[in-house]
Amino acid sequence: MSATVPQIDFSDRQAGYRALAQALEGLLAAEQDWLANAANTCALIHAVLPELNWVGFYFLRGGELVVGPFQGNPACVRIALGRGVCGTAAARGTLVNVPDVHAFAGHIACDPASRSELVVPLVTPQGLRGVLDLDSPRPGRFDAHDERGISELASIYLKASCF
Ligand code: SME
Repeated sequence: MSATVPQIDFSDRQAGYRALAQALEGLLAAEQDWLANAANTCALIHAVLPELNWVGFYFLRGGELVVGPFQGNPACVRIALGRGVCGTAAARGTLVNVPDVHAFAGHIACDPASRSELVVPLVTPQGLRGVLDLDSPRPGRFDAHDERGISELASIYLKASCF
């Protein structure tokens, strides 16, 4: 079965994220596999959300982050906890919003086009699973609407998925 990509208008950011959350819930409703769901989650976000050059997952494996499903250019494979924006969000267990990646000490430049970055940690009752990482070519691309909206998408992904 093929899924259609919804047309979502983000001129009203809150309404846009509500529609995207509903679309993701529908897309993941019939599947529990964490890897399959990660692939479809980043594909949907990349298809629908404007001004992104990279969307993907890093999963915790053997004490470090290892790249998972993503949309965008090939990326660095392994990131130590505490390193870069992804490793910082993972080590802290909190969202990290970087308006200017050039001003973030330790930023790992996988794609030189990336100018701002939003990373949401994936935390379950069993602990840290990984992170969801969004990159934009526009400085300051992510605001409080995006922080809330992407956190909600990450939590929909976690609820739908068995690890
Ligand atoms: N910039 C990230 C590395 C991952 S890429 O953006 C895909 C970081 O500093 O952790």
